[in-house]
Amino acid sequence: MTTISLGIEGTAHSFGVGIVTSEGKILSNEWDMLKPDKGGIHPREASRHHSEIGPTIISEAVNKAGIGFRDIDIIAFSRGPGLGPSLRTTATIARTLALKLDIPLVDVNHCVAHIEIGCLESKFNDPVTVYVSGGNTQVIAFAGGRFRTFGETLDIAIGNMLDVLGRELGMGFPAGPIIETIAKDGENYHNLPYSVKGMDLSYSGMLTAAKKLHSENVSIPDICFSVQEIAFGMLAEVAERAVAHTKKSEILLTGGVARNNRLTEILTGVSERHEVEFHRVSPSLAGDQGAMIAWNGILQYKAGHQISVENSHVLPKWRTDDQDIIWRQSL
Ligand code: ATP
Ligand code: FE2
Repeated sequence: MTTISLGIEGTAHSFGVGIVTSEGKILSNEWDMLKPDKGGIHPREASRHHSEIGPTIISEAVNKAGIGFRDIDIIAFSRGPGLGPSLRTTATIARTLALKLDIPLVDVNHCVAHIEIGCLESKFNDPVTVYVSGGNTQVIAFAGGRFRTFGETLDIAIGNMLDVLGRELGMGFPAGPIIETIAKDGENYHNLPYSVKGMDLSYSGMLTAAKKLHSENVSIPDICFSVQEIAFGMLAEVAERAVAHTKKSEILLTGGVARNNRLTEILTGVSERHEVEFHRVSPSLAGDQGAMIAWNGILQYKAGHQISVENSHVLPKWRTDDQDIIWRQSL
């Protein structure tokens, strides 16, 4: 019998609702993002955004899916990691819906959901995942019942680095896509700190150095070009080592920064050198959205997991490797 899951994502500044069936069909995936005028995201404003827009997005998702509220079998929500106020508002909406409809509530790890939606789309079984977004930069592989973080940023995430640099260069938010476009006009390569430490990466030194290039009147296209080449080259090195070490045969690129074509090109090169398969999650599923939460909710629920409202407090620091992946125990 088909199970229909409504998934709610709201870990940061985006609020999304997706409806997905147990066959993996995405019936709808609606979302809205709070765009900060300047500076970063204010957690309180993000949570206000979620509570104001939440009911509308939920109705839109249900309508678009062509179902009624009574057709929904489970409510899944992003329990963490993320900003406390955003997570609490999202969880409150999810609990209310689950109680009102009298159906199970399933708590989903946001990072794990980015991986599983990629596996659904690519049909990959067991990839090395390069998960790159505004808040996260991780190279992950499944081992011993959990998604292990083989390498990650020691300071800021790659998307955050691009957004902060973009702000400095006078670009709008999010800056990642703008930097990608402008980098195509870059001609000269400028040295920036290439910082891979073991399997981990660091982007804060690159950010400082790129700002310095700007103050020295290096052209913006050259800065964008150099930042992309070096930042993505670092990721390629870590991904390459993870593949060599784990001997896995698939590389999955997911998260908002996965929309970048140059990064995709570089990782395609890695996969060809190692003769492994490569998949970049399609743009509509790469960033934060509810379908990934809905789908992960189904996997968890089918494996026998749900959570009571009383125990569903949010987990702002929930790590990728902190969850037993019960639906993959056979791997
Ligand atoms: P998470 O909570 O997983 O950290 P997030 O809140 O950052 O996610 P996402 O939608 O996954 O949200 O990612 C947004 C990031 O992706 C932003 O930093 C944005 O600049 C970056 N991004 C989007 N498109 C591109 C692109 N074409 N090239 C580089 N970066 C991009
Ligand atoms: Fe995300």
